[in-house]
Amino acid sequence: MEADPRPTRGLWPKNPVIYQIYPRSFQDTSETGEGDLRGITTRLEHVASLGVDSVWLSPFFASPMCDGGYDVADQTAVDPRFGTLDDFDALVARAHALGLRVMIDQVFNHTSDQHPWFQKSLRREPGFEDMYVWQDPRPDGSAPSNWIAFFGGAAWRWHPQRAQYCLHQFLPCQPSLNHRNPKVHDALREITEFWLARGVDGFRYDAVTSFFYDPEFRDNPPAGDTQARIPGPANNPFTMQRHDNDMLPNDCAAFARDIRDWAGPDQYLIGEINEGPKSIEVLRKFTGPDRLDAGYVVDLAERGVSGTVLSDMIARLGAPGPLAWWLSSHDQARHVSRDGDGSARDARLFAALTLALPGPVLLFQGEELGMTQSDLPFEALHDPFDRTYWPDPPGRDGARTPMVWEDDAPNYGFTSAAPWLPMICPPDGPADRQLSNEGSVLQFYRTALRKRGDLNLADGRIEVLLAEDRMFIARIVSVSDTVVLAVNLTDGPQDVPYAGTLRPALQSAEQPVSDQIAPRSAIWYHA
Ligand code: NOJ
Repeated sequence: MEADPRPTRGLWPKNPVIYQIYPRSFQDTSETGEGDLRGITTRLEHVASLGVDSVWLSPFFASPMCDGGYDVADQTAVDPRFGTLDDFDALVARAHALGLRVMIDQVFNHTSDQHPWFQKSLRREPGFEDMYVWQDPRPDGSAPSNWIAFFGGAAWRWHPQRAQYCLHQFLPCQPSLNHRNPKVHDALREITEFWLARGVDGFRYDAVTSFFYDPEFRDNPPAGDTQARIPGPANNPFTMQRHDNDMLPNDCAAFARDIRDWAGPDQYLIGEINEGPKSIEVLRKFTGPDRLDAGYVVDLAERGVSGTVLSDMIARLGAPGPLAWWLSSHDQARHVSRDGDGSARDARLFAALTLALPGPVLLFQGEELGMTQSDLPFEALHDPFDRTYWPDPPGRDGARTPMVWEDDAPNYGFTSAAPWLPMICPPDGPADRQLSNEGSVLQFYRTALRKRGDLNLADGRIEVLLAEDRMFIARIVSVSDTVVLAVNLTDGPQDVPYAGTLRPALQSAEQPVSDQIAPRSAIWYHA
């Protein structure tokens, strides 16, 4: 196995655990039914008490919220629904006082079509004409290429004002920035500097694999039935192309060096890698001492959690480190329902699996409570992606339902107004009930995170011993300990031949006293 060449960034642990907060759904203090920055500040103690290293805040910037905030209209302003810059400063101060670092999202691939840059570009104002990707129609009036947006449908929107097409790799309201225009990079660098001056400790970069594309706009070939097919639902035509020309990993990865230069050596930088079958190979291009610290890929969420997928990812990765492990986010159905039956038992199982793996880990708000996926009716959906694919939506809004904090408060203490999405409570109840129950999912996460630290698993090496679809056994060797991780995803007990001689360090469920592991459970053994 190769040595991990990354230096330690400033005061960051090498492989942190990062807790993702979706501001709209964390805590409301303004009686609007939507969360806000002050609300986050009031709940940071909960996050710190988990034992994570950092929070990552999904976008809270000025936005028409056509893509839940990933359509930014001003990258250096707080959207009034979330508060003010003073609220942000107070949040950072409180986080730092609690020993938490603060990462924020940076959406560099595109802006909102309401952004002043876009409005000026639309009017061809000098200096702004080429900030976005404008192209003339083909002689027959059709779009410059056959590229399809991530959310389905053509990636080109016709703008009569300029009599040209504009590229959008996501929603039509999210025009793509022209990364070949140095003025764009100057502006993005200034945005980075703005947030550095406000004390942030790291950045999560949205859609880093989409920044560069073929300058001649050549068509993508069909994916056919090949391995090149990007994972995803068959009802999204995006999966039907081979993305040879709309995503150029080498050019994008080279840009990761600029990102590192702008952010400086001490910031922790992580990128979202959307590259289908070559995800991990592409991730490796983006990461390194002079680039991003880590990236994350969608393999487990799209291909399903299994021993074979895990072992394939570990083999492709080589040395642990640059790949951040995660199971849930604001973009996928929650894993406890997607890969499990929504029970507290399955929530503990997946926690024991994720928190044993060497490398950085991303936790999504609410997973520490065992929050399940909500099956929302069409009328409740805000997300245009979910609405387009109804009745078979990707389930983004169903994963974004607000946090459940208290038993004896309206809307579980999230808001005193009507919550922006219907709320559901996980099997073990809201956070306060789980705190007073030693056997709850919340307590399990706290214990697992503490033991992950005690056993130095984050910086360990992993060696796969058994990888089957529903069974996974691996040895993790850290500076201080050797741990065997056994995961049983089947509904029956399974043999772990040497288990009888090993002492469990953590177990997600009660275990039979034998060389077996209980159904739907995971164990860490001291080895
Ligand atoms: C990835 C973000 O996580 C997702 O929520 C968003 O819709 C797209 N990028 C576009 O910004």
